[in-house]
Parts: sequence; C-alpha cells; structure tokens
Amino acid sequence: MIPINTDEIKVWSSLIYNLCGICLDETKGYLLESRLGNLLNETNSQTFSELYFKVKADGANVLRRKVIDVLTTGETSFFRDTSPFDLLRNKILPELIDRRKKGLTTVLPVPIRIWSAACSTGQEVYTIAMVVREMIQGSPLKIDVQITGTDISDQALAKASSGVYTRFEVERGLPLDKAKKCFTQQGDNFKINDEIRSMASFQRINLMDPFDFGNKFDIIFCRNVAIYFQEKDKKILFERLGRALAADGALIIGSTESISGLGLNFVPQRYLRTVFYQPGKPGEVGHL
Ligand SMILES: C[S@@+](CC[C@H](N)C(=O)[O-])C[C@H]1O[C@@H](n2cnc3c(N)ncnc32)[C@H](O)[C@@H]1O
Repeated sequence: MIPINTDEIKVWSSLIYNLCGICLDETKGYLLESRLGNLLNETNSQTFSELYFKVKADGANVLRRKVIDVLTTGETSFFRDTSPFDLLRNKILPELIDRRKKGLTTVLPVPIRIWSAACSTGQEVYTIAMVVREMIQGSPLKIDVQITGTDISDQALAKASSGVYTRFEVERGLPLDKAKKCFTQQGDNFKINDEIRSMASFQRINLMDPFDFGNKFDIIFCRNVAIYFQEKDKKILFERLGRALAADGALIIGSTESISGLGLNFVPQRYLRTVFYQPGKPGEVGHL
C-alpha cells in the first residue's frame, strides 16, 4: 500500500471538505490510504500528491465524483432503526393526511411530498414507500405520494435507481414474507416491484450547496449524514432544510443525532421512543 504523508493528509482533507463537507482530521490517514488505494492504481499515480493534482486538474469532474464515491460512507438498511418508520406510520402520516384532507374540496388524492436527503443506495426511500403503500392498501384513502431521494454519490444513486439488492441487503431489514411482497427475485438478487419504484425519484444533491425544489416537503428524513459535518455547516444545512419544509411538516434525523443547541427554528416533539422536529421558534418547548 502506498503511504500518505502528513502534508498529503492536510491537502486531501481540505479537498474532501470542499467537495462534500466531510471533515477528516490528521488521524484519518489510514482511511485515505485504504479508500483511495484503488483510485491510485486506476490512475497510475505513484503518490497521493500525484493523484491530488490529477483530481484538481480534472475539468470533467470524473475523478472528483469517484473520490466522493469512495470517501462517503453509504451504510444503510431497510427499516434502519425501526422506530422512525413506526412514527411515520402511526403518527406523522395519519395526522398529516387528516390536515391535508380538510384543505381539499373534492375527492382528489391527498398530495404528500417526502424527501430522503442523503438516501445512499435507496433503502430509506423504499422503506418509506413500503410504509405508505401498507397504509393505503385496502383503504379508500387516495394519496398522491412523491418520495425524492437525493445523495451526493453517483454510485449510490445508480444503485438506488436500479432498485436491485442482494439477498443479504434485503434480509438485513426485512422479514422474508414482507420481502416477497415488495421484490421480485432475479437470480441471486431482488428487484423492487414497479408499484413501489414508481413512488420514488432520485437526484444528485450536495447538501453543502443551496437547494431549491420549488414546492415544500411535508416530511424530510435527514439521517446519519450530518454526523460527518462541522457544527457551522450542520447549522446551515438544517436552516435550509427548515426552509424546504411545510409549516406543519416534520423533520426526522438519525436516532443518535441531535440538533438542539444549534439555535434553529425547530421544536422537538416526542412519539414513544422517537424525537422528531416541527417548524417553530428556537427554545419553544414541544411535546417531549
Ligand atoms: C450513512 S449514509 C445514510 C443513509 C441513510 N440516510 C440512512 O440513514 O440509512 C450517509 C450518506 O450521506 C451521503 N453524503 C455525504 N456527504 C453528503 C453531502 N455533502 N451531500 C449529500 N449527501 C452526502 C453519502 O454519500 C451517504 O450515502
């Protein structure tokens, strides 16, 4: 393995921060060595400095995108942490649908817009779709749900969009009987059924950049990505997410994450073991 030196760690950390906001300190040399190893070979680079200059000179962004693919951590699973999806099924969606129905004068489907920000390979998106589908199956309720999955990694998004998973990936979060209802087996792999796939769309968004989707989202999932960011960037990100959320919408973050103390316009609410956030004044006390 080609070793990385202290100066190279510094320039690479700064490059990675500029590409995606991920902060790597001087102790993360081993991570750069292991994750960038293949790219060194692929580009015939003899040192990390040589690869660095190739990435900087890469006008077409091909190498930059490859660096992002290998440096980001896409750990995810279907029904990850379970309780956010109980919260979605038993509280957030029923209450939201009731409020939205009141605003409709006809029997039009209730429009619900959900964003999975940093969705990795798509398991979070399809889990949300499965929960929504279960809710509406066999009920007279008509919901026009649009789930937008975004990530910075092209590789993760390509897999999310294909909707094809290995048996191991499927079985990590889903019992086999549920999996059978949601996937079609293709050899050793499982492909998400069209009905679920059609509820989702995917696009590349760097959460460090400003974003504008036009309409507001009713629910935003932003889980297990802000842990990689500095406090100042986390604050800017959640301020932007707040502006992208409907006034009665809900923000769901990772189960080990917290946004209290950032002085944001969110009020924490508790449902059983899960905390979620609704737009409000900083310091306002919700139902905890
Ligand atoms: C650990 S995964 C979380 C996946 C999913 N939200 C979950 O909780 O299971 C983190 C994801 O954040 C993405 N990511 C990292 N930096 C990002 C950025 N600046 N903008 C958008 N996505 C980013 C990575 O590509 C990765 O797919």
